[in-house]
Amino acid sequence: SDFNAEEVLTFAINIAKQAGTIIREGSAKRIDDQNQGKVDVEELIKKNTADLVTETDQKTEKFIKDAISKQFPSHKFIGEESWAAGQQATLTDEPHWIVDPIDGTNGFVHNFVMCCVSIGVTFQSRPTVGVVYAPFLDTLYYARTGAGAFIESPAYGERQLPLAKPMPLPSLKQALLAVEYGSDRGPGVLDKKMESFKRLIGDEDAGIKGGRMVQGVRSIGSAALSCCYVAQGTFDLWHEVGCWAWDVCAGAVIIQEAGGVVVGAKEPTLKSISTESFGDITPEVLQGRKYLVIRGVGDSKSEK
Ligand code: IPD
Repeated sequence: SDFNAEEVLTFAINIAKQAGTIIREGSAKRIDDQNQGKVDVEELIKKNTADLVTETDQKTEKFIKDAISKQFPSHKFIGEESWAAGQQATLTDEPHWIVDPIDGTNGFVHNFVMCCVSIGVTFQSRPTVGVVYAPFLDTLYYARTGAGAFIESPAYGERQLPLAKPMPLPSLKQALLAVEYGSDRGPGVLDKKMESFKRLIGDEDAGIKGGRMVQGVRSIGSAALSCCYVAQGTFDLWHEVGCWAWDVCAGAVIIQEAGGVVVGAKEPTLKSISTESFGDITPEVLQGRKYLVIRGVGDSKSEK
């Protein structure tokens, strides 16, 4: 096949930065429109009021999709908004670009800096190239299989990830975790998320049975950036029930190349963390909707 991962990575970085410009311009326009009292008609509610798409998501995805089809006409494309618009998405061994034009749309509409464009590429059904660019932080994360993961940012310059050599944590009590609620808020899913959240933060000594008393919890609203924060070693773990391949395809490569682990857990609760049931990312995992991402947390013996 003509798949050249280095060439694909270079191109993906290039379009991610250009997409970042479109996102920043879209944001500036939104702010001006709001200040001019223009009725905000661009907001489109997808599944519910927590699941949004803006004009900028659609514009950015179209830019990325067109650029890819021009440069790599034989490659396949799976994008969040194309899928939402009814395009079929099946993963095969051909190169597939799996794209979220704005991961963290929710944050984007609130002018929160934690959003990004996420561009993953699978080859032979495996995530092989990952690029995540956060336009409001001018921060780029990228990786390709076997070549390491890197950051380029005003804060850290250009470095290989993780930023610092991870120290094995004696327990989750020293861990900074990220969790997301996602937009599925019905009883089945929400009960699991809440139960798992309670066990993670609860203080067993104060009477929360099974509580792990993690040091800190964050919820930044972007699955892709959460993966990158695990890769850089800031978060020790991130987990979510209910995200999609475009949320995590790029992040999965970045995590794995930084020495982290990605699991599509059946029940992503602390139990699955501490039973060492870590898997590798497979096509099934990629197409599944449950992700657990971890680096360096705990040790199954001390956490049991
Ligand atoms: C969402 C974000 C969010 C996660 C949701 C995703 P979007 O992606 O990654 O963190 O909780 O599950 O759908 O809709 O902003 O592209």
